[in-house]
Amino acid sequence: MSVTVRVPAKVNVQLAVGAARPDGFHDLANVFLAVGLYDEVTVTPADGLRITCSGPDAAQVPLDATNLAARAAIALAERHGIAPDVHIHIAKDIPVAGGMAGGSADGAAALLACDALWSTGATRDELLAICAELGSDVPFSLVGGAALGTGRGERLTPIDVGGTFHWVFAVADGGLSTPAVYGEFDRLTAGTDVPAPEASPALLDALRTGDTAALAGALSNDLQPAALSLRPSLADTLAAGTAAGALAALVSGSGPTTAFLVADAESAHKVAEALLTSGTCRNARTAVSPAPGASLV
Ligand code: C5P
Repeated sequence: MSVTVRVPAKVNVQLAVGAARPDGFHDLANVFLAVGLYDEVTVTPADGLRITCSGPDAAQVPLDATNLAARAAIALAERHGIAPDVHIHIAKDIPVAGGMAGGSADGAAALLACDALWSTGATRDELLAICAELGSDVPFSLVGGAALGTGRGERLTPIDVGGTFHWVFAVADGGLSTPAVYGEFDRLTAGTDVPAPEASPALLDALRTGDTAALAGALSNDLQPAALSLRPSLADTLAAGTAAGALAALVSGSGPTTAFLVADAESAHKVAEALLTSGTCRNARTAVSPAPGASLV
């Protein structure tokens, strides 16, 4: 018997970053929006814990115990006195190390899949607590839709979304390390007074009313200067998408994927084509939001 879970990518429509905390993390006002690019994680009983991965970027995915899917299986098994003897297969479609929470998505998906396989009877709150232990973005991968993440991003308040938003994502060559981008944020803001992060009322309104133009005007990412500092060529990608008619452009999370908000599906295809021919990215993908969270298929 196997269990398969489908899980979405995310884009941060607002990522407000506070000063570094004593534990090294940063307090955030992190507005997550799940987008319709999905990984599928299948778990099957096996003699021991094993991970495999398929998809165009499979070679970049770690297949050892650092993979969040493995850590999720181990964490759930430990709590319930079960041996984590599963083969976890990840069908990877979310860009790897791209700032779209692909690794977090696989952690949430593996957790939900193992929970179903082992019939642990874990409550939703228990699953969310394990997600928060695995990483700051993992709880959101479980819930999907849209949510405000506070604390280090793991404390979620759901946000209603009143419409469909169209996006293009430009996938860069190579990844960016999230700790390195936060480190660069610290370097760039050293000696300045970093304000406490707060969600933008205009942005939350734009989501609630499904107003694309208003959302375009309210997108922001405090990690963008740090990502651009580490990867200056991303400025060319942002400019190429904007020149092709995107309503707004920003780095997705810690990058290096760049996100372009567009008016409709037709515009999405035009902007994706232009990005592909611009030579400023490795691939361009279209997707709509919001998308549902991790769910059994
Ligand atoms: O929580 P997660 O394991 O995804 O975080 C990865 C790294 O990103 C952390 O080790 C930290 O360097 C940085 N981070 C941070 N503040 C946050 C979330 C992540 O500094 N709120």
